[in-house]
Amino acid sequence: MPSTTPAAVPFTVPQCRERKHRGEKITCLTAYDVSTARLFDEAGVDILLVGDSLGMVVAGMPDTLAVGMAEMLFAVRAVRRGATRALIVADLPFGSYQTSVAAGVRNAVRCLKAGASAVKLEGGQPRRRLIRRMVEAEIPVMGHLGLTPQAVRRMGGYAVQARAPEAAEALLEDAQALEEAGVFALVLEGIPRELAARVTARLAIPTIGIGAGPDCDGQVLVAHDLLGLTDPAPKFVRRYADLAPTIRAAAQAYCRDVTSGAFPADRESYHAPGAPVAVRARG
Ligand code: KIV
Repeated sequence: MPSTTPAAVPFTVPQCRERKHRGEKITCLTAYDVSTARLFDEAGVDILLVGDSLGMVVAGMPDTLAVGMAEMLFAVRAVRRGATRALIVADLPFGSYQTSVAAGVRNAVRCLKAGASAVKLEGGQPRRRLIRRMVEAEIPVMGHLGLTPQAVRRMGGYAVQARAPEAAEALLEDAQALEEAGVFALVLEGIPRELAARVTARLAIPTIGIGAGPDCDGQVLVAHDLLGLTDPAPKFVRRYADLAPTIRAAAQAYCRDVTSGAFPADRESYHAPGAPVAVRARG
């Protein structure tokens, strides 16, 4: 029987800009595995960002710096298998594009071959040449300014960026430079909402905010923050679920049942052919 459910119309790179022109917000969440990718896709999330935050929230690393291409490609393939509609953006890991333009383009190509539709990279004007080369190579690129986690050593931590007027002007110039270089969207992370509003008003491409206030053209959150799996969560996070107690309680109940012998029951067991009915019924 053919399915009666209409196939989801994929969300595409050109639609990002159209959304901005229509004044409609863009939704983005991180995803790192097939199950959450499928659920977020079904929920109608526009963009699934395979963020290098996976190093922190999935692998417990102190920062994103140790994430490599192998981890990113593994996660992109998994997310690709779960999503039919959402645009998949792969975060280029630290070291995969900073050393040379050729390396950056090569690693971005690997992300697209793994199933991403676009890549994201961090940084301002020094990234112009790389972005232009990627765009020439038909690779859609998302920029990322403000609190850029791959620059944590330079920043000395994860503080809000560009509060001072000169730093705000520099960020505005960076944003314009990235737009001119060809990025199709720009993540603004950890900056004052007033600055995010100025950037958003100045650019024709959409801005996607995280800790940048409500005036951006879209919002992104790390899935584990939104689902209540990280503690503590930053100020800008709104928790839409509190899964930690639910998961902990499920694991405790499982341990109780295994310890007491209540799990598995007979109905959860396989049987040899011709096993006595009494054995089959027990449990
Ligand atoms: O890696 C990530 O999850 C990100 C978002 C926070 C924008 O870059």
